[in-house]
Order: sequence, then C-alpha cells, then structure tokens
Amino acid sequence: METVLNEVFVARIEDLPDKIGKTTVIGDLELAIFKLDDGRIHAIENRCPHKGGVLAEGMVSGEHVFCPMHDWKISVRDGKVQEPDEGCVQTFEVSVKDGGVYVLLPQ
Ligand code: FES
Repeated sequence: METVLNEVFVARIEDLPDKIGKTTVIGDLELAIFKLDDGRIHAIENRCPHKGGVLAEGMVSGEHVFCPMHDWKISVRDGKVQEPDEGCVQTFEVSVKDGGVYVLLPQ
C-alpha cells in the first residue's frame, strides 16, 4: 500500500539562514532544515547519531553539515555520516511552493 504523505509548512525560504540550519519542531519530531549555497533545501533529523548534537546549529559546507559537538560530517542529502565515523540520520522529503518550504511526512 502506498504511504500517504502530509505536507507540513516549516518556513519561508527567505527565513532560512545561510551556512547553518533552522530547528523545526513538528509534534514529536525535531528537524533541521538547511538551505544550501545552490538553493536546494533539505530536512534531516536534528540529532547527531554520535551523542545527540543539535545538527541545525552545525556549519554547512557543500551538502554536508558538521556536528557542532565533535565535528562529525553528515550528508544533508542522504543523512549518511562520512567516514571514518559511522551512522546515519533520517532524511525527509521537502517541497517548495510559492516561497514556502514544506516537509512531507507520513500521515
Ligand atoms: S554529538 Fe555529533 S559528533 Fe558528537
């Protein structure tokens, strides 16, 4: 059966900071929303798999965020932790409409 997705508004594009993420809470979920230099927008779980660092507060370079606690490098595109460290965070689909950023969540 196909999963039905719910679009949840999270921010206006112009309200997303450069070089760092924005923390967004939706119910029990805490997401980090990132706007990359090329304008692409990504949403990932806001907790580092190492010791729970807040990823939205990490510096962004290219399509990676560096955890503010111990500098693990994590892809905001697929959520994978880069070697030599290991692990991954959940990623969420994003859509942009009329300058509004929406995250697609299972209903
Ligand atoms: S908590 Fe993120 S690198 Fe340690």
